[in-house]
Amino acid sequence: MQLKLTKTLPFSENFIMADSEEYKTVIGISFGNQNSSIAFNRDGKTDVLANEEGNRQIPSILSYHGDQEYHGVQARGQLVRNADNSVTNFRDLLGKSHDELTLHHCHYSANPVNVEGQIGFKITVQEDEESDPKEKILTAHEASVRHLRRLTESAEDFLGTKVNGCVMSVPVYFTDAQRKALESAANEAGLPVLQLIHDPAAVILALMYSEEVLIDKTVVVANFGATRSEVSVVSVKGGLMTILASVHDENLGGEQLTDVLVNFFAKEFEKKNGIDPRKNARSLAKLRAQCEITKRVLSNGTTASAAVDSLADGIDFHSSINRLRYDLAASATLNRMADLVTEAVEKANMEPFDISEVILAGGASNTPKLTSLMESIFPEQTIIRSSSSVTPLQLDPSELTAIGSGVQASLIGHFDAADIAASTDAQVVDVPHLTAPIGINEGENFVTIFDIETALPARKTVEVIAPKEGAAFIPIYEAERSVKVTKVEPEPIDEEEAFSDDEEEEPEEIKERIAIPKTLIATITLPDVSPNAKIELVLQIDAEGKLTASARPKDGKGTNVRGSTA
Ligand SMILES: Nc1ncnc2c1ncn2[C@@H]1O[C@H](COP(=O)(O)OP(=O)(O)OP(=O)(O)O)[C@@H](O)[C@H]1O
Ligand SMILES: [Mg+2]
Repeated sequence: MQLKLTKTLPFSENFIMADSEEYKTVIGISFGNQNSSIAFNRDGKTDVLANEEGNRQIPSILSYHGDQEYHGVQARGQLVRNADNSVTNFRDLLGKSHDELTLHHCHYSANPVNVEGQIGFKITVQEDEESDPKEKILTAHEASVRHLRRLTESAEDFLGTKVNGCVMSVPVYFTDAQRKALESAANEAGLPVLQLIHDPAAVILALMYSEEVLIDKTVVVANFGATRSEVSVVSVKGGLMTILASVHDENLGGEQLTDVLVNFFAKEFEKKNGIDPRKNARSLAKLRAQCEITKRVLSNGTTASAAVDSLADGIDFHSSINRLRYDLAASATLNRMADLVTEAVEKANMEPFDISEVILAGGASNTPKLTSLMESIFPEQTIIRSSSSVTPLQLDPSELTAIGSGVQASLIGHFDAADIAASTDAQVVDVPHLTAPIGINEGENFVTIFDIETALPARKTVEVIAPKEGAAFIPIYEAERSVKVTKVEPEPIDEEEAFSDDEEEEPEEIKERIAIPKTLIATITLPDVSPNAKIELVLQIDAEGKLTASARPKDGKGTNVRGSTA
């Protein structure tokens, strides 16, 4: 009998140390639609580098004025005065043709245009100070090359050495075409991609290598970025990571939360002055820039102000908002983010109590309400790690993907190109894993030998006690997962309180996952054993799901047996 298997996309990287020193300086890069970061491992610690302007989160923006190209924070500063000549949100446009462009986030900067089937931006530049301004097309590919080149230069400047390559993290849902386009842009920027790793793997790596160790756990990684959110359920077993399920929404992120504040204040301004600042591009840009700041202040404090000089028609704007009001106004967006987490858990065929840890990554995860929504979805024993949780992240959630990529960069920096290429290929190969637990009965109890999601091939040795003299039968079962609910009566804190309580407190329900034997897949029979003899049972499942079992009495008396499922 074959065991039932499913296949998922792995991103475990098992490297064999090679002698080659071909790549010496390998950096980790997270290239987001809004921000990018560079991480590097020095003296055993991976940290994010600051660019020349001191920014660790470098806006993925290019802006053109006269004969100048601005990048990063300087380019972001151009978004109010020079929006049409600024290029933003181009990462997710890579690897897509213009026909495939169903959604973009360039509403407040140069809009994407069709460039012979490719996606590009029309900008006006001057060759030099004397020449006339000319229209120029910058494709999403060219914008990415220029941005990545700037990042490489910043890294080389900081490190004082040439950078030989990078590890870059990408969303799980990225298509092959998007991955290839990203690699091609990086190559052209002089930054060969030695490996692409998935964002949730990068997040877990970042935590594994800081003080927070994640081993043998089922983890939810929720990445709430600027314009997109992705939630993955990941099994971490003995250093091997398997994505069990992943869901995403390319139109859900921090920018939608900024929109909530923009609409809130715009309505207030309109009510007072009869002018809607959203109707004028420059007024809207000014208000958005202020709302971005107000939103961040609300993540730390309970109230924040907003002030824009000459917002519209020369009228100044001053107001404030408290966190409660903001949470209410943003509830539809925040609830959708929380729903995405529930969807991912359901897609993995799990219940919230199956999840050991929830990690909130990405800039928008700084929103405190998201942490309280997670606390309402998951039971108390699930650890929530976010910037504002009871067990807070020690790292900046916006930097986790960069740090994880930097960790991986330090691990593969000394491998030769062939080994790395092989492992990059392996990322798109499926790894089988078990969909049901396998184990044996010990008295009344079922003992799980291979848990669900064990990556195959796998091998385990267990010790069984023979119940009586003579032939010993050891049935091996595939089990069904079930839930055991125990009701615990709440303990009164003190007698007075117990009596003063008018209403009876509901008993608390503790749910735990149990396995119940369902299908007999093999029986091992040892012809003659002594009573209470210890039997060593070795179970092995190959990559195709074939089970091989062997058993031998540990006292040496009796026969050794071995058999396989067909
Ligand atoms: N302290 C904060 N409080 C609330 N929101 C924040 C905070 N810091 C950053 N953000 C928001 O996080 C978003 C940027 O997140 P991040 O840097 O993870 O995006 P990205 O990786 O570039 O985008 P994407 O993943 O969509 O490509 C922005 O919308 C920003 O306003
Ligand atoms: Mg991101």
